[in-house]
Amino acid sequence: MSPAAERGEGGRRLFFALWPGEGVRARLADWSRELHALCGGRAPPAQDLHLTLAFLGQVSARNVGQVERAAQEVSPQAATLVLDRPGFWKHNRIAWAGTSSAPAELDSVARGLREALARFRIAFDPKPFVPHVTLLREAREPRSLPALEAIRWDLDGFVLAGPSARGGGRYEIIRRWGTRG
Ligand code: 2AM
Repeated sequence: MSPAAERGEGGRRLFFALWPGEGVRARLADWSRELHALCGGRAPPAQDLHLTLAFLGQVSARNVGQVERAAQEVSPQAATLVLDRPGFWKHNRIAWAGTSSAPAELDSVARGLREALARFRIAFDPKPFVPHVTLLREAREPRSLPALEAIRWDLDGFVLAGPSARGGGRYEIIRRWGTRG
């Protein structure tokens, strides 16, 4: 991305995501190292690991308020997500962490956000929600995927994130919404 684009001129590529705390992030980084030994590839910095709920693409500065108002209508519920399944997608050469059983609250927050965005007429990528944390890009297909120790992730809300003002392809959290009720 050009420096001008990273600074947000002409809009920023925004997305809603679950952002892990330190403990889960460290465990994801362990998975990333184990998978890297099998598939190589490029690991995003541990601080940037996340699970995307909805990808908005370019959002102009004047529309960010509307995006935040849409998010305000969503009530994330506390839940535990167990990441117990590494995966690899051939089409984009991504190795990822996923789950064999997503809690209903996870689908519900992703659906709630997408419905709120639609009501506010905010565009987003309509591809179906497949919960995953990207661990490696440009990876090689492994012969088989290892069994990895499951990671328990207590969900406590979601964030709006976008490119970091520091540049370098890094992300930053713009705003957080916590669980309610
Ligand atoms: P990925 O990790 O599977 O590539 C920021 O780019 C985040 O939004 C990434 O987690 C990325 O998923 C996700 N994302 C979802 N749809 C996207 C799209 N159409 N273009 C770029 N990123 C997308």
